[in-house]
Order: sequence, then C-alpha cells, then structure tokens
Amino acid sequence: MSRFLVTGAAGFIGSNFVRHLLTTTDARVTVLDKLTYAGDRRTLDGLPDDRLTFVHGDICDAEVVDRLVAASDVVVHFAAESHNDNSLSEPWPFVETNIVGTYTLLEAVRRYDTRYHHISTDEVFGDLELDDPERFSEDTPYNPSSPYSSTKAGSDLLVRAWVRSFGVRATISNCSNNYGPFQHVEKFIPRQITNVLDGGRPKLYGQGRNVRDWIHVEDHSSAVLRIAERGEIGATYLIGADGEQNNRDVVELVLELMGRPRDAYDLVTDRAGHDLRYAIDSTRLRTELGWQPRFADFRAGLADTIDWYRANEGWWRGQKAATEAKYAAVGQA
Ligand code: NAD
Ligand code: TYD
Repeated sequence: MSRFLVTGAAGFIGSNFVRHLLTTTDARVTVLDKLTYAGDRRTLDGLPDDRLTFVHGDICDAEVVDRLVAASDVVVHFAAESHNDNSLSEPWPFVETNIVGTYTLLEAVRRYDTRYHHISTDEVFGDLELDDPERFSEDTPYNPSSPYSSTKAGSDLLVRAWVRSFGVRATISNCSNNYGPFQHVEKFIPRQITNVLDGGRPKLYGQGRNVRDWIHVEDHSSAVLRIAERGEIGATYLIGADGEQNNRDVVELVLELMGRPRDAYDLVTDRAGHDLRYAIDSTRLRTELGWQPRFADFRAGLADTIDWYRANEGWWRGQKAATEAKYAAVGQA
C-alpha cells in the first residue's frame, strides 16, 4: 500500500485527485495545504478518515516538508498560486509558493530519494494563434506570458535540473484548462455559473475570442495517477482531451443550459497580456501510457458542473463577494 503526500489538495484539482486516489486505489494519503483563500478543508469532507491525514502547513516550510516527505513513498505536487488575474495584481506569492515551494519539495525528495510528480500547466508554452494548425507538444519551447505562467515554468525547470543534476526520480505533467466540481469562483466557468445563479450576467474579457482547451478534472486526475504509477522518470507528459472552445461559445452554452438568452452576457476590460489560444497534443500520454479521457462530451460535463454549483451553494457562497470585489476594482465586473 503506497503512502502518497499530496500538496495543495484543499484546492480544486488536488482535492479531486485525492478523491480519485482514495476511491480507485488502497493508497494512504497525507495532504499538505496552507489553506490560502483558495483552499477549503471542507472540500475533502466525506473521504475515508482511516486513509487520509490533513496537515495544515506551507510547502515553503522546510521542516514540515522534510518530516512529511520522509514518511511518504510518492509526492504529487499540486499546491500553487493558480490564478493569472491575481498574479497581475500581486505577483510575489506566485514567486514564493510556485518557485520557492517547489524548490523546498525537491530538496526533500532528493534527500529521501522519493518518487515525485510535478503538476504544471500548458501556459508555460505561451500562446498559439487562432488559426495555427499546431498544438503544444512535449517539444514546444517554453515562452510564458504572465507572472503565473512564468513561475510555473520556473518550477518545471527546477524539476528538470534536479532530475539531471541530482538524479531525483521525477515526472512532470502540463495540463490544459480544467473544469468540474470544487473550482474556485474566481475561475472562468464557475464565475459565470455563479453569476447567473445570483441573477447576474457572465463577464467576457475583450471580445471573448480567446480559446482554451477544456478537460474535465476527473480526466486530469486519472492521467496524473497513470503518470505517477507508470511514467518514465525524467519525462514530461502533456495532458489534454481535445476540448478547444472559445470563451464566447462557453458563455453562450452556460447561458443556454441555465435557461437564459444566449446573448445575456457583458464584455468587460480585457486581461493584460491575455494569451490567445492554448491547445494540447496528448499523443505521448495516450500512446505510451494508454491513457484516454472519459468525459469527452463538454456539454454534458458542463451541465453536470452547473448542477453541482446549484446544489452546493454552501461551498462557494463564502468566496463570491470578495472575488467579485477584486474584479470590480480592476474594471472586470
Ligand atoms: P487552486 O488555487 O484551486 O488550489 C491551490 C491549493 O494550493 C489551495 O488549496 C491552496 O490553499 C494551496 N496552497 C497555495 N499555496 C500553498 C503553500 N504555500 N503551501 C501549501 N499549500 C498551498 O489550484 P488548482 O486550480 O487546483 O491548481 C492546482 C495545480 O494544477 C496548480 O499547480 C496549477 O498550476 C495546476 N494546473 C491548474 C489548471 C487549472 O485549470 N486550474 C490547469 C493546469 C494545471
Ligand atoms: P481562467 O479560468 O482564469 O483560466 P486561464 O487564465 O488559466 O486560462 O480563464 C479562462 C479564460 O476565460 C481566459 O481566456 C480568460 C477568460 N475569462 C473571461 O473571459 N472572463 C472571466 O470572468 C474570467 C475569470 C476569465
């Protein structure tokens, strides 16, 4: 029975991964999470207590990290400052958590020779033109645009250097945009759903032409587990589910599924440096590790996600007012 240390699992993707891990394997899981504005202990409620331990702490705290890594067989590192808009208004927490935090974990896994999987994003590659036939692959050069994506790129490069210089047994995955339950309402899809549930209107940056490659969070989780178990040491895998959509189409679908006119949205100030398009080619993951996404129907996945936010107002309500106040302060409400 493997002992997993999962960082950042009071957040969106980490919590979904822990749920996946506990329901599909007999692993024991320790979660390390700082419970920033983005973390919520309740997100892990209902999981088997006998195999899950929650530690409230910071990945930059070398002492706590050392103690937890020493007691683990595998580390899966999700903890991050994860929102581009926040990185534009306050970059320092991104540098600290994403770079110093990753460094702290790498030093610990190096000491104990612990298997390490590093969660990253396709945003490290920069963006693509709307009509570019190419998609990102493992060979695409890094060209990040924002404080968020540059600190994620920096953390990926630390991992590669620790593999080559110190023989750390690590893998990296870069995934496209996730959607599903337990995503913070600052992010695109939950923000629009909860705006509509509140009787308000979706907010599209610029003209809404930007394209994101959507994947259901459950598919991200199954891919990460596959890589952590069977991935080649030192390798990078791109995770994506062929889900390209422009933002306007997503908003129109949210409105349609929620019984509102498809044009009942507002155009607001664009994000500075807004990446135009992301698109993932996940051939390597599919051919080498036999992974396949299971939630290919975006319309059905979005309808389920809307139902989840409708049924779980108690989970997101406490985030909503402060999130909208931040957007209002920069002309995006
Ligand atoms: P999130 O913001 O929902 O959750 C982040 C979690 O990390 C929170 O629980 C927070 O409390 C915790 N955390 C932050 N700083 C910490 C610190 N210093 N020490 C310990 N815990 C800390 O993020 P998410 O959307 O679930 O993203 C998780 C990971 O996946 C990130 O590494 C992100 O870069 C990556 N990723 C996200 C997406 C996406 O679409 N959201 C896509 C690809 C990759
Ligand atoms: P986001 O969820 O912040 O993810 P990322 O920036 O990591 O891709 O945003 C997804 C897309 O939606 C991005 O193109 C920005 C856009 N967006 C809006 O149009 N309106 C919004 O209210 C938000 C939060 C994002």
